[in-house]
Amino acid sequence: MTENLEGKVALVTGASSGIGAATAVALAGAGAAVVVGARRVDRLREVAERITGAGGRVLAVELDVTDEASGEASVARAVAEFGGVDVLVNNAGVMLLGPVEGADTTDWTRMVSTNLLGAMFLTRAALPHLVARKGAVVQVSSTAGRLARAGGAVYAATKFGLNAFSEALRLEVSGRGVRVVVVEPGVVETELREHITDAGAKEAIERAANAIRQLTAEDVARAVLYAVAQPEHVAVNEILVRPVDQAW
Ligand SMILES: NC(=O)c1ccc[n+]([C@@H]2O[C@H](COP(=O)([O-])OP(=O)(O)OC[C@H]3O[C@@H](n4cnc5c(N)ncnc54)[C@H](OP(=O)(O)O)[C@@H]3O)[C@@H](O)[C@H]2O)c1
Repeated sequence: MTENLEGKVALVTGASSGIGAATAVALAGAGAAVVVGARRVDRLREVAERITGAGGRVLAVELDVTDEASGEASVARAVAEFGGVDVLVNNAGVMLLGPVEGADTTDWTRMVSTNLLGAMFLTRAALPHLVARKGAVVQVSSTAGRLARAGGAVYAATKFGLNAFSEALRLEVSGRGVRVVVVEPGVVETELREHITDAGAKEAIERAANAIRQLTAEDVARAVLYAVAQPEHVAVNEILVRPVDQAW
């Protein structure tokens, strides 16, 4: 199948690195006009330059998904610049692993407000446009949205929560032609682990990840592209994609 997103508009959150950047490049490569949002505008500019260099259409917007007004403004910029939103990719996230006992609760607040509330705010803001154009919302969840592990209680809670939110949303909007897609990657080689503040948790996940062949951000981007490039009547609701070496 050759994916064709000509005439479509996609908004990708957390597009300054990793899976979000690769997804923005992939969607633009298939012909979509892409709005890339994140807090690090210098990194966003590099992603935008890659897209325009390959002949794509892109708009970079400074976005903090934890701020509801910032999410609404990004959707408004997408509509003003490109005329609507067909695909929302809620990808922005942080994974601040560590045990519950003695945890730094600012890590918890960051994870819940970014991974869960941020995706919820963006979904609400974009939904009228997705309904109008029979679009799709892609939630970048995780294997941690299916399996909770020691040291990942709050990260898993955000991803289980995102999956629950998405299933209820699917029931609310599928009758109006909106596709809800949950993508659940296993271990992907990105910057995600670099931000972990608990030294023990960071060392443990790095050791486990480096012992296997990890997914690349582009591997996950292909899964997103596959889901959103289907004909209007096809809803790919869930994609679980692990490195073949990942047993957990
Ligand atoms: N890597 C993995 O193994 C893995 C596995 C399963 C699922 N995932 C999920 O994949 C998603 C992307 O992660 P990644 O692996 O690509 O890591 P990454 O390279 O660290 O990317 C995370 C992105 O989220 C953005 N972000 C963080 N806080 C934000 C905020 N408040 N507002 C807007 N953007 C924000 C970051 O941009 P700024 O810092 O510039 O804002 C960055 O672009 C996450 O939801 C993660 O949970 C990753």
